[in-house]
Amino acid sequence: MSHTPEALEKTAGLSPLMPEVYRLQRMRQETLDTFTVELAHASHATAASFRPGQFNMLYVFGVGEIPISISGDPANPNALVHTTRAVGVVTRAMRLLKRGDSIGVRGPFGAGWPVEESEGNDVVIVAGGIGLAPLRPALYQILAHRMKYGRVVLLYGTRSPDDILFQRDLERWRTRFDLEVIVTVDRAAGSWRGNVGVVTTLISRAPFDPRNAVALICGPEIMMRFTAQELRRRGVDSGRIYVSMERNMKCATGFCGHCQFGPQFICKDGPVFPYNRLEKWLNIREV
Ligand SMILES: Cc1cc2nc3c(=O)[nH]c(=O)nc-3n(C[C@H](O)[C@H](O)[C@H](O)COP(=O)(O)OP(=O)(O)OC[C@H]3O[C@@H](n4cnc5c(N)ncnc54)[C@H](O)[C@@H]3O)c2cc1C
Ligand code: FES
Repeated sequence: MSHTPEALEKTAGLSPLMPEVYRLQRMRQETLDTFTVELAHASHATAASFRPGQFNMLYVFGVGEIPISISGDPANPNALVHTTRAVGVVTRAMRLLKRGDSIGVRGPFGAGWPVEESEGNDVVIVAGGIGLAPLRPALYQILAHRMKYGRVVLLYGTRSPDDILFQRDLERWRTRFDLEVIVTVDRAAGSWRGNVGVVTTLISRAPFDPRNAVALICGPEIMMRFTAQELRRRGVDSGRIYVSMERNMKCATGFCGHCQFGPQFICKDGPVFPYNRLEKWLNIREV
């Protein structure tokens, strides 16, 4: 079977294993190693709809295919948005794409954040580094229906001020009276006037009611583990704490077993899970 963009355009949409062709509309550098792409479908006016927390398999032609979460606004059907850190072969090749270049997209896949299920509750969003990317669609959706939620808090931690993503969004969000945004960095020099320390240090003083809060966490696995512990210490039930997991993926449809984590397939059962479903496995090394 041919996997050129032209051949795929003819067979697009026939199977979840068959990428559809999108074209790069825009690329924005977020930090030194992280960039956001806006993609448009090669032949449809709108992109596929998605739920916050879902991911796509992005195929850089001739290089490879990788899972990347959707980081755009679920209410905007015109562009498919992904934010990627260039760490290896495929992500670096993606960084070199130019406006108009083709990229294969399969998806969206997986279970997303419980955004609608959290209506009526306080919502605490805790992001570490690039973990803000999969959480941004959830925050967009919550803010679009702000009256349906209690207090909404975003706690965001990065290694340094230079690693902070979505600066324009953060500036806008900071001006809202109905959203508490607290940013911290692990280490800072020079002009940084904000918080210094890991993101877990923000939890004890964040303004939310633990008896009524749902927490959405995304970041490195160790950060998610310590964040969940802090939230539990404050009184948040572990069934109301959600994390988004990453594992190597191939099929993204529950067939190949590459993403198995304990009894779960991250691609199909996740990537978002209630913490109490994973806790036992997160405490075992090398699962
Ligand atoms: C459900 C899901 C959602 C994801 N969402 C995003 C997203 O929104 N944005 C994003 O940037 N990434 C995301 N990832 C991670 C992304 O899939 C990997 O970074 C990507 O597969 C790396 O491919 P590569 O070919 O560039 O790197 P490879 O050539 O495969 O790896 C090169 C080196 O980078 C290391 N590496 C691989 N992945 C990571 C990583 N995540 N962090 C640090 N080092 C790594 C490898 O261990 C290796 O040493 C997601 C993963 C999953 C499973
Ligand atoms: S990636 Fe194949 S089962 Fe999940």
